[in-house]
Amino acid sequence: MAKISLRRLRQDPWIRELTQQIHISPKQFIQPHFVVQGLKEKEPIQGLTGVFRETPDSFLLQIEKDLKKGIHKILLFGVPGSKSTHPKDFEFTAKQIETIRKEFGKELWISVDVCLCSSTEHGQCGVVNPQGDHIENEATVNLLTSQSLQYAQAGADCIAPSDMMDGRIGSIRDHLDQKDYHRVIIMSYAAKFHSRFYGPFRNAADSAPKGEISLKDRSTYQIDPARMDDAIACAKRDAREGADILMVKPGLPYLDVIYRLSEEIKKPWAVYQVSGEYASIELMAANGLMNAPLAHLEAWTAFVRAGASIIISYGARNAKDWLHDF
Ligand code: PBG
Repeated sequence: MAKISLRRLRQDPWIRELTQQIHISPKQFIQPHFVVQGLKEKEPIQGLTGVFRETPDSFLLQIEKDLKKGIHKILLFGVPGSKSTHPKDFEFTAKQIETIRKEFGKELWISVDVCLCSSTEHGQCGVVNPQGDHIENEATVNLLTSQSLQYAQAGADCIAPSDMMDGRIGSIRDHLDQKDYHRVIIMSYAAKFHSRFYGPFRNAADSAPKGEISLKDRSTYQIDPARMDDAIACAKRDAREGADILMVKPGLPYLDVIYRLSEEIKKPWAVYQVSGEYASIELMAANGLMNAPLAHLEAWTAFVRAGASIIISYGARNAKDWLHDF
């Protein structure tokens, strides 16, 4: 029998290009931004090279720069200056949305994270009960719904709830529709795991769980990494309640989840290359252990291979240059 050569199709860049099955485009990316109330000067974020805690002014300059490079899609995290136990006032973030909508019009596709963790004193994603050991679901969903309406009114194209409460997608969709925001998209953080990979983000968004209450982490609402069934149930529920886009988060440690869910639920799937994943690559590269652009490209390829079409990455603004170079 003739020898089987699989290396024949790997022998030069031309045949490798011709046989690639995944072609990533800069059009698939969303760029996250942090805008911080009361900040005087923009600050670097440890591990997230090229991403900053922005002031409202530096935020505008950064968007302008990104638009010139063809980055039209953003995910906004507003970090308010004051905290409370029942945050109702989302004016700071709403104001940022209004400003960029006015400044850049429809050149910009604005999605905005909806959650309470940057607004609460204890850094939990919702309203904590008086005993301090449980997040009250209904009270939290009511606040998240009002937050979503404020952002829709300010001009957001897409609401992205990352809190993991029960029933928030249905409540947000109902209220958006009642107020005639039929065209506002919901991108649900549907399969969001209780992960160690959110560290650099929590510094940037000032949202790490803290304080004297007995709840110390997010394990009572985010999905246990060992429970695929919970991820499936969450994604099906959110799709049923009206989410337009579903997300898996983090990305690399959960490729099996992306694959499984995107096969099973025929909706657009986004993946979030979260801060800790991003920083792992950047910190290795800073120590001479890895080529960062090539490593990010490898991770992004894996996301698309697994079934995602949308990539949320801190490196979105570099995607065009990096993809072009390879
Ligand atoms: C808020 C939220 C988190 C992220 C996005 N929205 C962190 C968390 O749940 O603590 C993580 C993003 C990242 O790590 O890049 N709930």
